[in-house]
Amino acid sequence: MPVPRWWWVCEARPGSRVSALAPPEQPAQVRLPAPDEPVSFAEHIKPLFREMDRRSMTFAFDLWSHDDVTKHADAILHRLRQGTMPCDGAWPAEHVEVFARWIAEGTAP
Ligand code: HEM
Repeated sequence: MPVPRWWWVCEARPGSRVSALAPPEQPAQVRLPAPDEPVSFAEHIKPLFREMDRRSMTFAFDLWSHDDVTKHADAILHRLRQGTMPCDGAWPAEHVEVFARWIAEGTAP
């Protein structure tokens, strides 16, 4: 079977194709929690997911939904630690550890 031309974008679906001319998307206003501060989804976790991450992953879950991310937290952490997600480059270790801390503390909204 011939490989479709959009296949190279991390095997993404056509809808998740981002223009090559688009500026690289940065996580919006990431604020890491202080060591003694409780980690919250709205404050610290959701802002780590870019619009592109959310759009690319709608086939499996909604990365901006507290319920969805809580339900898939272990699978998400696994891929973040592996460095295989996001598909265009691994998170810095301190972001992955904040996500792990959010799980360990009970996935607060
Ligand atoms: C922080 C951002 C992201 C997280 C946490 C994440 C997480 C995950 C997880 C947990 C899976 C396995 C889902 C399952 O098996 O049910 C997955 C699969 C997948 N993701 Fe992502 N993802 C992210 C961003 C992206 C981006 C930016 C792309 C591409 C543009 C992408 C493309 C895919 C594809 C194509 C799969 C299915 C193939 C595979 O399992 O490798 N994801 N992702």
